Amino acid sequence: MTLIFPGSFDPVTMGHVSIARRAAKFADRLIVAVLENPNKNPLFSVAERTAFLKDALRDVKNLEIESFCGLLADYAQLKGADAILRGLRNSGDFEREAPYAAYNSRLSETEIETIFLPAAPQFAHVSSSIIKEAAAHMNEDRFGFTFLAEQLPPAARAAMQERMKSHGCTT
Ligand code: PNS
Repeated sequence: MTLIFPGSFDPVTMGHVSIARRAAKFADRLIVAVLENPNKNPLFSVAERTAFLKDALRDVKNLEIESFCGLLADYAQLKGADAILRGLRNSGDFEREAPYAAYNSRLSETEIETIFLPAAPQFAHVSSSIIKEAAAHMNEDRFGFTFLAEQLPPAARAAMQERMKSHGCTT
């Protein structure tokens, strides 16, 4: 079974890493696919996001990291994926993901299924968006930095620390 795990991964979090590692245990092949979306304004480039993932998951043998642009259904078919993998933290995630699953199925010639894995409880609050939001308003000396840092794998954490240095308010 080949699974494709798509996402923005801007940046990859320990939550994403957890989902990928757990799925790699039951999938024969897992393709982590980084979305290159010209309409989004990511903090990190596709090359950076891919590098963070490679650093975090390099020991997982049946896992590949790639990037894609365009429709996920097309990319999944191109890669011969049997199903799409997405992580769910809560019911809000499910509400957002369920229509995507329906669209992806109808947009693929193979009616591709989506498999949802529940986030491990210790990662249920972890969010790239919230990490970025908090990081944009603080530096690494601030109380609470450790809380942010521990949610990111090492390469993503180091890159986020670098970005934080240039993010500070001027007033
Ligand atoms: O990490 P994210 O931002 O929640 O991931 C969203 C992602 C990449 C899964 C989604 O935006 C996506 O698949 N984009 C590619 C375009 C597409 O096929 N969209 C779904 C059908 S409309």
